[in-house]
Amino acid sequence: MMIIFYDQIDSTNRIAKELAAEGKPSGTVVRAAVQSAGRGQYGRSFSSPLGGLYFSLLLVPDLPIETLPLITLATGLACRDVLHRDFNLHPLIKWPNDLYLDGKKVAGILCENVLIPGVPATVIIGVGLNVNNTIEDFAVELQPIITTLFEFLHRTVELAPLLIRLTQAITGQVERLRYDQASLLAEWQQFDFLFQKPVVHGQEGETLHGIGQGVSSRGLYRILDENGVEHQLIGGQLRPRA
Ligand code: BTN
Repeated sequence: MMIIFYDQIDSTNRIAKELAAEGKPSGTVVRAAVQSAGRGQYGRSFSSPLGGLYFSLLLVPDLPIETLPLITLATGLACRDVLHRDFNLHPLIKWPNDLYLDGKKVAGILCENVLIPGVPATVIIGVGLNVNNTIEDFAVELQPIITTLFEFLHRTVELAPLLIRLTQAITGQVERLRYDQASLLAEWQQFDFLFQKPVVHGQEGETLHGIGQGVSSRGLYRILDENGVEHQLIGGQLRPRA
């Protein structure tokens, strides 16, 4: 496995995409100590101060194209497992891509596909985990909604070995999508942050209120609206409602 490390870069996902276009092999990892323009879902920025673990794993998974969206779920589950196994923490996963500890975001995942005709699809799996930072390292408006491992463990964690464990766990779960998709989704469901919670979904200016029902067999998120009608969500923004 090759790890390319930067003290500071705009976004490891951007670099990893460039490397994918150059044909770098599956398993290549790009890590940065700091990102100046970390990217999140929905074109948002991802705050990446010193002390966190920011990386992008380039994978060429042997999966049909319709399974690629499930890689985000597999990655969330893998990261949850590592935080549980290594630190005895109990994060929940907010569909499709965030990890929460005690109701506060501790990690974000951004998967991007690189599709070039005639070449097997490459997936860039970007993970940002707040580790050795404190709340004060983040902008004031983020402080009420985020947390870090340090806030729970009260000690620092070595980032390099943690990166190895995370990339191994992610690779294993993505592999599992080939032969064990149903049980992977069932396992994911045990850690569903939004399950039975009031949620609001927004997409292209349309807002939908409902109650979280968990993932479908295809990995879409199901919500029940006020009229008892079930909706299955593919994209858009889903968050808990006060
Ligand atoms: C989100 O919270 O919406 C997803 C955040 C993903 C952040 C990671 S940090 C490493 C990689 N590089 C990026 O620019 N983004 C991802």
